[in-house]
Amino acid sequence: MNMLNIDPEQVKRLFDSGALKIAIFGMGKMGLPLAAVFADRGAKVIGVDIDKNRVDMINAGENPVPEEPGLADLISKNVDAGRLRATTDGVQAAKDADVMIILVPTMIDDHGNVNLNPVYDVAEKIAKGLERGNIVITEATMPPGTTESLVPILEKSGLKLGEFGLAHAPERTMTGTAIRDITGQYPKIVGASDESTLNAVSAIYEVINKKGVIRMSSIKAAEAVKVFEGVYRDVNIALANELALFCEEQNLDALEVFKAANTQPYCHIHMPGAGVGGHCIPVYPWFVMNLSKRHTRLIRTARELNDEMPEHMVELTLKALNENGLSAKNANILVLGLTFRGDVYEFRKSPSIPYIERIKEWSENVYVYDPVCSEKDAERYGVKWKEDFRDVDIIVIMNDAKEFKELNLDDLAKSMRNKIIVDGRGIVDKERAKSLGFVYMGVGRK
Ligand SMILES: NC(=O)c1ccc[n+]([C@@H]2O[C@H](COP(=O)([O-])OP(=O)(O)OC[C@H]3O[C@@H](n4cnc5c(N)ncnc54)[C@H](O)[C@@H]3O)[C@@H](O)[C@H]2O)c1
Repeated sequence: MNMLNIDPEQVKRLFDSGALKIAIFGMGKMGLPLAAVFADRGAKVIGVDIDKNRVDMINAGENPVPEEPGLADLISKNVDAGRLRATTDGVQAAKDADVMIILVPTMIDDHGNVNLNPVYDVAEKIAKGLERGNIVITEATMPPGTTESLVPILEKSGLKLGEFGLAHAPERTMTGTAIRDITGQYPKIVGASDESTLNAVSAIYEVINKKGVIRMSSIKAAEAVKVFEGVYRDVNIALANELALFCEEQNLDALEVFKAANTQPYCHIHMPGAGVGGHCIPVYPWFVMNLSKRHTRLIRTARELNDEMPEHMVELTLKALNENGLSAKNANILVLGLTFRGDVYEFRKSPSIPYIERIKEWSENVYVYDPVCSEKDAERYGVKWKEDFRDVDIIVIMNDAKEFKELNLDDLAKSMRNKIIVDGRGIVDKERAKSLGFVYMGVGRK
């Protein structure tokens, strides 16, 4: 179907009649909720993934992303209705679809080099099925300029840009709130190769997003929006961390100071913490640093600072043990949190990983617990799994899982051998912990 020169009313009718076919490449934490939302609004959605297990699960109406509220129901409902199916055959999906969305990982290696191989792989497959009037949209977060670098690959189809449309519409959400965000927490950002593609893509997202669309002047500008959002977070978290370290030196409580400072409308000091993880915030700064001819000093320093926070957690742990006459070697250390964020099963760049590696150099008794993990995950990172607090000397909170926010301090006080808490997320009620006889330390806390 020719999606170019289509008006918004026609787009709505295509959704209503079930005539619009959308292929989404990448059925992960972002791609699958998007697929489910489009299908629920009436489109015929083909989800493409290289992971056969995932594809089989989706086709069976099962949800491979259990941490996303509401997703399970949307998948089973729309698979049953025949509006959502999944496949590993990307070329066939491209042949079948009118609109193709690329939502595969955009990663960096340990040295900050960007790896866009999944994006290029998908573009090659799309080129084999691309037809005149189709639109290709990248939703994965891209270093500015990347979407347009796909044009030579897509033109292997024999079509020229203009005969097909190209756009970038970045995913502006995160696991746990994806469906809410996709359907209208924030406006969708869209940049496109020409006016008719911009109109069509805007109309498509206006159907699912209550907050509408912000039309950008170019694809590259749309790419920069999402990357800058991530850089903003990273730099501001680094600032909060730096001020928190200053507070520790000055015997101040950072959270008390930040809270008061933030009552002034121009001040938005973020939460300090045990480190920045996941495949978004610590990754996107590299998209700017690698592309820029300048040194990008501020962004680079912020990245370094945030990467140093797990080591600071090690220092706090050792300090807490030493000051209480315990040797790290013999102490039972229970790390709470293995994933990068509470209640999300994602280990990429999790601060817990470098923390565990380093603390194991000091102690033989390092245990871990995380409500979304299992013994197998603990084994993979070389630590023992522990689900209770018996004989524990110190707990070290590395992520903000709901269960950790609701820790019962009375129970904890009864079962721990020594009552020491190192809080890397500022989630324990410090005053109450102290009143129960706990030694409490945390990033930026006194
Ligand atoms: N997770 C988030 O909170 C979040 C938020 C905003 C933006 N993003 C961005 O969205 C994109 C996708 O992230 P995600 O969280 O969904 O990743 P994810 O790791 O959860 O899922 C990616 C999926 O893509 C599949 N895949 C990998 N290579 C493929 C290929 N060549 N062809 C088809 N499928 C392939 C994987 O098997 C996996 O199922 C990234 O650019 C990310 O930066 C993520």
